[in-house]
Amino acid sequence: MTIAAVVTAAGSGSRLGADVPKALLHVEGRALVAWAVSRLGEIAEAVVVTAPAAHLSAFEEAVDGAARVVAGGDTRQDSVAAGLAALALDDDDIVLIHDAARAFQDPSVAAATVRAVQSGADGAIPVLPVVDTLVTAPGPDGSVGDPVDREAFRAVQTPQTFRARVALDAHRRGSAGATDDASLARELGYRIVAVDGHEWGFKVTRPSDLPLALSIAAQLEAP
Ligand code: C5P
Repeated sequence: MTIAAVVTAAGSGSRLGADVPKALLHVEGRALVAWAVSRLGEIAEAVVVTAPAAHLSAFEEAVDGAARVVAGGDTRQDSVAAGLAALALDDDDIVLIHDAARAFQDPSVAAATVRAVQSGADGAIPVLPVVDTLVTAPGPDGSVGDPVDREAFRAVQTPQTFRARVALDAHRRGSAGATDDASLARELGYRIVAVDGHEWGFKVTRPSDLPLALSIAAQLEAP
């Protein structure tokens, strides 16, 4: 049984306003995708990165042999499917699906998801409590919506980890438009369990996320 991983990095990262794909953005001298691959590489034996088709050689340079690079698709779901196909998984393998944008996720979280699948779950995802007060979206006149009980909600991170046959089936039969892999699997009846996420698993999305990314990278680089 192999533990393998797909790192999705084929998005443009337009919300970050950079002139390169987001995953190529350098933080403390290393591209985000390289941070993601090296941290996940502590758990996974084989890693495939899905990259924008026009930037394959730049991604190969960034990961420097630590992962295989394949072209992603138009949607995240297509990119994950391309990564799964490239891994040529056996049914009993375990596969982690991780966003390069969550480049600093703590390896202990990835390890916890793997343990949950080894203990019998079909899949496992990291979640965190929601810290903000939540209301439903405002109406057309701008009036705020109803408050909702935040204790009833969790924010979902990656890696999302599955027995390989579950991930493959979810991507073969799941509906288009899901924003994560666990939702695809859940709608087919698979049992997905939650493990504790980590603050460092945040998704580098907006310019204001960069100072935190820099601070974490500096801590990780410190001798
Ligand atoms: O757009 P969003 O932030 O949800 O993207 C999550 C992850 O999916 C990012 O790491 C991004 O690079 C990846 N992605 C992809 N292929 C796409 C779109 C997004 O691999 N077509």
